[in-house]
Amino acid sequence: MTSPAEASRDEPFLVLGIETSCDETAAAVVANGSAVLSSVVSSQVDLHARFGGVVPELASRAHVQLLTPVVAEVLVESGLEGDGIDAVAATVGPGLVGALLVGISAAKALALVWGVPFIGVNHMEGHLYAAFLEQPDLELPTVVLLVSGGHTMIVLMEGHGRYRLLGATVDDAVGEAYDKVARFLGLGYPGGPAIDRLAREGDPEAIRFPRPMLAEGYDFSFSGLKTAVVNHGRNNPDLNVADVAASFQAAAVDVLVAKARRAAADTGATSICIGGGVAANSLLRKRIVEACEQDGIAAFVPSRELCTDNAAMIAAAAWWRYQADGATPMDAGAVPNLRLA
Ligand code: KG4
Ligand code: ZN
Repeated sequence: MTSPAEASRDEPFLVLGIETSCDETAAAVVANGSAVLSSVVSSQVDLHARFGGVVPELASRAHVQLLTPVVAEVLVESGLEGDGIDAVAATVGPGLVGALLVGISAAKALALVWGVPFIGVNHMEGHLYAAFLEQPDLELPTVVLLVSGGHTMIVLMEGHGRYRLLGATVDDAVGEAYDKVARFLGLGYPGGPAIDRLAREGDPEAIRFPRPMLAEGYDFSFSGLKTAVVNHGRNNPDLNVADVAASFQAAAVDVLVAKARRAAADTGATSICIGGGVAANSLLRKRIVEACEQDGIAAFVPSRELCTDNAAMIAAAAWWRYQADGATPMDAGAVPNLRLA
């Protein structure tokens, strides 16, 4: 079996990554934490759309059906078919317990059959490492704004595996606010991309929604903003939905950008990175780049498909984790509320 020291040998170290924490069944083969040989994401969006959100039991069952063909596809695409994989990684948390267990069990089985290490990965650490897939030499320390359906955090990344959590949401995650507002506006699921699209046709200054906790620290609160949108809708039955979408998005993005920027200024970080599904948002991407230009620091904005859930980011994070900690014990299970260390 390969040792952590061998992960830094001359020939590329190939990790098969598996991601099943929520409603995307994904696998990828990544060399040395940065070169993506193949990556497949099979979305279950159509399955959950009619329920207006992810149904955990259905997600687990769909992962069972989809994971084997998805893994087979990435192995064929990478030209390996199992030969030459040096480690198998899977997301161990945070996420839906039944969904996580499907990926973990498959990864452990493959690791045992191939006689290679199993590496358990924190999903949020995966989102954080998405930027390294396109910018392997990304300079540290960097401030990372992690924005997904379940989390909203500002992390100071001082070194590989060395993070300081500067702030987080005290209530809803920003992606959750997008999804709930979209549902209220009748835009369906998932809400983030729908609001992103519709907001382009609306006036972001039409309604002045609150910017919660804008002036204080690095923590966030999005539940009041969501309630403000709902109250506005109830009091204005003839509302222009595009204006509401644009105004909500302007408020949410204002807060995200202001806090990331403040964190970079206070810590002396020379760059800001974004990650997580909401980092696919057009306005957030544009505003982060503009803010960094103004502040004379670098912006790292991964391509959209690396922001939303995928397994390339899991394989990339696994490579760094393996060098720091070695293999994950085979009795490690799913940790639905796993925190970023
Ligand atoms: O990281 P992710 O794919 O899954 C989780 O780990 O949660 O993030 C999903 C979240 C959802 O709330 C979705 O609505 C949001 O990311 N999202 C977006 C966009 N694309 C996905 N939010 C705003 N704008 C987008 N373009
Ligand atoms: Zn995610």
